[in-house]
Amino acid sequence: MATGQSVAIIIGSLRQNSLTRKIAGQLVAHAPDHMNCTLLSVDMPLYNQDLDNDPPAAWQAFRQAITVSDGVIFASPEYNRSMPGGLKNAIDIGSRPYMQGVLIGKPAAVVSQSPSPLGPTLANHALRQSLVFLNMPVLQQPELYINRSVTLFDEEGAYIGAEQAPPFAAFMAAFSDWISRMSKAQA
Ligand code: FNR
Repeated sequence: MATGQSVAIIIGSLRQNSLTRKIAGQLVAHAPDHMNCTLLSVDMPLYNQDLDNDPPAAWQAFRQAITVSDGVIFASPEYNRSMPGGLKNAIDIGSRPYMQGVLIGKPAAVVSQSPSPLGPTLANHALRQSLVFLNMPVLQQPELYINRSVTLFDEEGAYIGAEQAPPFAAFMAAFSDWISRMSKAQA
């Protein structure tokens, strides 16, 4: 069994009452005991290659949090059939300087959500497309696309989705196994 895993969960929404953030909270609540999760904000200055020699403090803190993690979960809403610009910016920040990006090669998983019945499949796969370039081994199954996400929480934000519960625990257990398998493969 895996021991002492550290996982960064990048929240793709900046909104105060973000459903993505609430869903990330459920991932944390359903994580195995040996997994320590840290939620990361994408509220950072836009990536600009001119700043590579003197990066903003927010970039440095974000990169440090990724560096010390064993794996990264990208939690994203769907925006215009893709991921939000803020999340793409965070990926860009984590991908640079060239060949030194802290995201390169990190085990990853993707969860996406949308309040719509159609769901957030396209955001999930737009994200995966960027992770290919960063050579991030991405958990394939279980896929976690959460549609009608607004029905999972009451007006105070409390989780009420027990009956139609997305498989949070199975997803986190699979990601824990994935991190272990990837670290053995890279050893
Ligand atoms: C959206 N939303 C949306 N939903 C969807 O299913 N497909 C889409 O393409 C879009 N596009 C979109 C664009 C923009 C600019 C906004 C603001 C919203 C709805 C969106 O997924 C929904 O509001 C999420 O709940 C936002 O995530 P947070 O902030 O609740 O985490």
